[in-house]
Amino acid sequence: MTNNGIVIQTRGLNKRFDTVHAVRDLNLEVRAGSRFGFLGPNGAGKTTTVRILSGLMKQTSGDATVCGYDVSTQRDSIKAVTGLLPESPGLYSKLSAVEFLEFIGALNGRNGSALNRRIDIMLDMLGLEGRQNDLLESYSSGMKQKVLVASTLLSEPKLVFLDEPTSRLDPAASALVKDIILVLAQETETSFFICSHQTSFVEDVCDVVGILNEGALVTLGSPQEIIENTGTKDLEDAYLKIVGGHVDRKTLLAWR
Ligand SMILES: Nc1ncnc2c1ncn2[C@@H]1O[C@H](COP(=O)(O)OP(=O)(O)OP(=O)(O)O)[C@@H](O)[C@H]1O
Ligand SMILES: [Mg+2]
Repeated sequence: MTNNGIVIQTRGLNKRFDTVHAVRDLNLEVRAGSRFGFLGPNGAGKTTTVRILSGLMKQTSGDATVCGYDVSTQRDSIKAVTGLLPESPGLYSKLSAVEFLEFIGALNGRNGSALNRRIDIMLDMLGLEGRQNDLLESYSSGMKQKVLVASTLLSEPKLVFLDEPTSRLDPAASALVKDIILVLAQETETSFFICSHQTSFVEDVCDVVGILNEGALVTLGSPQEIIENTGTKDLEDAYLKIVGGHVDRKTLLAWR
């Protein structure tokens, strides 16, 4: 269920921890079928936002709907129609990749040959064929990440939250994930909400980008708009211009 083609809407969303105001008055609209990229420095509030929107954490004030459901009162409905790749996921290391994915599928009410076919396709596509029956404890960190990416897509969610999907992936695997997102967005109208530090990945994949800084949304637009408005050559440069990130040589070398 979406609300007039809007898959995420937040109004005055805030999250405060003891001493930190992690999300400040966030007003955001993400259109259905969109690939929304969420950029921002470490500690900007991206993961906190994802946790609130995916129903894992309560906001301090403000409200939000996800796929038409209220994040305060309809969390189970949100979980049923969304997929989530968390920032620090847990895996059942004594299961094989296939067993883990069957388990995740079962949690979402899927089973039988359709689920197994989907699992086979995902594992093949991600280059894990031949290793699918090995225990996850024997996987490399990037291989685990691939299994987790597969797990978020298994139940054909309407909206997928990906919190740093490519953080442990090699360049070829990142390119694969990029293609998977683009094909699914095009062919199935799945919406994506992607937190990432890889500006080139976001520039290639996302149609809308939001930049969060110290909890506040400071920029919103298509990658092209953001690049043009900042007079830069790519999203990486635009990002650096907006949030800073240059080393002051004098200060760095002052301790010598
Ligand atoms: N459970 C918590 N308790 C206290 N403070 C928290 C908690 N979770 C997050 N924070 C604080 O909220 C702020 C935002 O954190 P968050 O994890 O959302 O940032 P982020 O944008 O995802 O950063 P990164 O790019 O490093 O993943 C940080 O200052 C962090 O210390
Ligand atoms: Mg984070």
